[in-house]
Amino acid sequence: MSARKLAVIVLAAGQGTRMKSKLPKVLHGLAGKSMLAHVLSGVEQLSPDQVVVVVGPDAPAVEKAAAPHRVVVQHDRLGTGHAVREAFSALAGFCDAGDQADILVIFGDTPLIRSATFEKMVARRRAADGPVLLGLAFRPKDAGRYGRVRLDAQGRVAGIVEFADASDAEKAIDLCNAGILLGDGPTVCRLIHQLDNNNAQGEYYLPVIFDFAYAEGLDTRAVEASEEEVMGVNSRQELAAAEQVLQQRLRNEAMAQGVTLIDPASTWLSTDTVFGRDIIIEPSVFIGPGVTIADDVTLKAFSHIEGANIAEGAVIGPYARLRPGTEIKAGGKVGNFVETKNAVLGEGAKVNHLSYIGDAEIGARANIGAGTITCNYDGYNKWKTVIGEEAFIGSNTALVAPVTVGAGAIVGAGSTLTKAVEKDAIAVVRGRLVEKAGGGASFRAGRQKIKDQKTAEQNAEKKG
Ligand code: UD1
Ligand code: CA
Repeated sequence: MSARKLAVIVLAAGQGTRMKSKLPKVLHGLAGKSMLAHVLSGVEQLSPDQVVVVVGPDAPAVEKAAAPHRVVVQHDRLGTGHAVREAFSALAGFCDAGDQADILVIFGDTPLIRSATFEKMVARRRAADGPVLLGLAFRPKDAGRYGRVRLDAQGRVAGIVEFADASDAEKAIDLCNAGILLGDGPTVCRLIHQLDNNNAQGEYYLPVIFDFAYAEGLDTRAVEASEEEVMGVNSRQELAAAEQVLQQRLRNEAMAQGVTLIDPASTWLSTDTVFGRDIIIEPSVFIGPGVTIADDVTLKAFSHIEGANIAEGAVIGPYARLRPGTEIKAGGKVGNFVETKNAVLGEGAKVNHLSYIGDAEIGARANIGAGTITCNYDGYNKWKTVIGEEAFIGSNTALVAPVTVGAGAIVGAGSTLTKAVEKDAIAVVRGRLVEKAGGGASFRAGRQKIKDQKTAEQNAEKKG
C-alpha cells in the first residue's frame, strides 16, 4: 500500500447508560473478551502508525484494557465529535495541512467489524480516485435509533442526520451510519473544529463532518457492510444479539477447520479457542478463554472448560469442569462431575467420576478412583499433590496436600492420606473391621424387646 500514514482513534468514553451497569460499556464481554479488546485486535491487524483510545474520566479499567495504546481522557462527554477532537492532542503529524496521513475513527461499542472491512476502506480511500472522506453504512432490518445517511444522485454522502434530529422523511431512510469513518487527516481535523452542539442532544456529532465536506464539494462516500458486522451495542439486548452473531461466526470457523459440532447452537466458544482436527463436541459445551484442543479430542455434553490444554485423543465429560491451569495429556480421560484446576493429567491417565483434582500432577496411566479429592487448601495456602505413573488411587480417597504417591503405588479406597506413599507400595488408611458373628440378629432382638415393652406401658396408661 501507499506510504501514507494511518492513525486510528477508538472512541470508548461513552457512559453506556442503556447498559444499566457499573462496568463501562466497552468492557462488557463477547465470546471471552471485552468489546474494546475485539475492536483493538481488529485495528492491530491494520498495523497503524498510531492508535489513540479515548476513555472517560475515572475509568482505570478501560485504560488498562487499552494498553499498550495511547490513551486520552475525555473529561466531559460532549459527543463523538468532541471525543475525536480530544484525541488530536495525541496525534502529532496527522492534522497539519500537507501531512500524508489518514485518520480512521472507530467506536468501542461496534465490536464485530472484521479487519477485512477496515482494509477495504483503506484500499478504497487510497485508490487513485479515492474519496476524501469515507463512511461505513448498512441497511439494518430495523433502522431504530441509528443515524441516517443521505446520499445524493451521484451516490455521494450528502450528510448524516442523527435519529433525534431527523425529520419523518429522514427517518424513513434505510441507509444507516455505522459510525466508522476514514478520511484525509488534515481535512478531518479541520472539519472537526467547525462542529457545534446546536442539536437535539446538545452534543458535538462526529458524522456532521460529512455534511461540511459535502458542502465544500469534497468527495464523500460510504462503503456498505452487513448489519451483523456493524451493529452497535448499547443495551444488554444488543449485547446478547452481538454474542449470537459472534458465536455463529466462531462455530462456522471451527466446523470449517474440521471440528464436528453436534449441536452448533448450544456450543459456546471463545475467540481464542484453538482447535485441531477431528474433534467432536457434543451438545451444551461451554468453552471459555484460553483453551487449546488437539486432534481427535471428544468433549462430551454439558462440559465447562476454561484455561485448559487438551492433548490428542483425550475424552472430557460429560459434565466435566476444567478450570484454568488444567493440562490433559494425550489420551487422558476426565469423566462426569470431575473438576480440575491447575492440574496436569498425564498421558492416558483417568479421573472418571466425581472428583476434585486441584494443584496436582498425575502421572501417565494413573487411575484416580471415583470420589477422590485433592485437599489442596488449608484455609491459608494451596499445596500440591503429586501422583506417580500408573499409580492407583482407590475410590473416595482424600489426598491431604502436600502429599505424594509414588509410581505404581496403590492407595486403598476410603483412605485419608496425609503422608507420602513409596513407589510400588500399597497404603490403606482406614479403621479396622470388627465383626461379631450373629451380632446383628441379637442387636435387632434386643431393640425389638425394648420397643414392645414401651408399647405395653403406653397401652396400660391409656386404659388406666
Ligand atoms: C453513533 C452515531 C450514529 C450511528 C451509531 C452507530 C454519532 C453522533 N452518532 O450513535 O450516527 O448510527 O453510532 O452505532 O456519532 N463516545 C465517546 N465520547 C462521547 C460520546 C461517545 O467516546 O462523548 C463513544 C462511545 O463510547 C461509543 C461511541 O463513541 O463507543 C459511540 O457513541 P454512542 O453514544 O453509542 O453513539 P450512538 O448514539 O450509538
Ligand atoms: Ca452506540
